[in-house]
Amino acid sequence: MTEVNNTNQKWIIRVEDLVKSYQVVDKNFQILQGLNLFVGPKEIVSIEGSSGVGKSTLLNILGAMDSFDSGIVEVCGVNLKSLTERQKELFRGEKISIIFQQHMLLPDFTALENVMIPMMISGESKTKAKEKASAILGRVGLGERLASFPGQLSGGESARVGVARALVNGKELVLADEPTGNLDRENSRMLMDLIRELQDEMAFSLILVTHDMELASMAHKRNKILSGVLQPFA
Ligand SMILES: Nc1ncnc2c1ncn2[C@@H]1O[C@H](COP(=O)(O)OP(=O)(O)OP(=O)(O)O)[C@@H](O)[C@H]1O
Ligand SMILES: [Mg+2]
Repeated sequence: MTEVNNTNQKWIIRVEDLVKSYQVVDKNFQILQGLNLFVGPKEIVSIEGSSGVGKSTLLNILGAMDSFDSGIVEVCGVNLKSLTERQKELFRGEKISIIFQQHMLLPDFTALENVMIPMMISGESKTKAKEKASAILGRVGLGERLASFPGQLSGGESARVGVARALVNGKELVLADEPTGNLDRENSRMLMDLIRELQDEMAFSLILVTHDMELASMAHKRNKILSGVLQPFA
């Protein structure tokens, strides 16, 4: 993996002139049209904008889960354009955590196991993974629910397991796509406070994709996608 950091400023994310289009049958849709984004260490940056403007598309590109047409995309010092599929997998495993809107817990595994699995995939021992998973689940208020299966948890509780699973590895960058999307106001606030607290403690950079103004208000910098480019939120 080529690590590039030739500027004095250490950006966690450096995106310049990003263009991304989708080809559907014989039509080409240009979604991102020269987008720029710079995110520093420990920053919380929101990406807002109406449905269909390209928020998830941008997040997927940052997480090396989608390709792009042109531009510079450097994430945690890695130039994503030059990566092979295998290197992309490694990049995702080593550098970033993702909080999904649908928490995507594995239904046949307990809350504890759901949090342990990504750590064990990254090479952590079972004992250590169990210790860390129990600690973070305690931290998100689910210390008594370690043995519960996702089907036995409420929406808010499942969302907290999703957050615990994403944050347990202490990565440098967390990408969150509508993390409170399916929750009611009260649960949404709880989750938002939790993410804020953990961000304060663990000091990761956070990209928060949302159209929830309240959630976005926790960002240090607010941006919206409009006509394929990123603009500061007025
Ligand atoms: N795989 C794909 N193939 C073709 N078009 C796609 C694909 N994925 C997304 N699009 C289109 O790209 C545009 C941006 O989609 P995206 O999912 O990034 O929007 P969004 O801003 O996240 O919207 P929402 O707020 O509804 O989640 C949409 O018009 C969508 O239909
Ligand atoms: Mg989306």
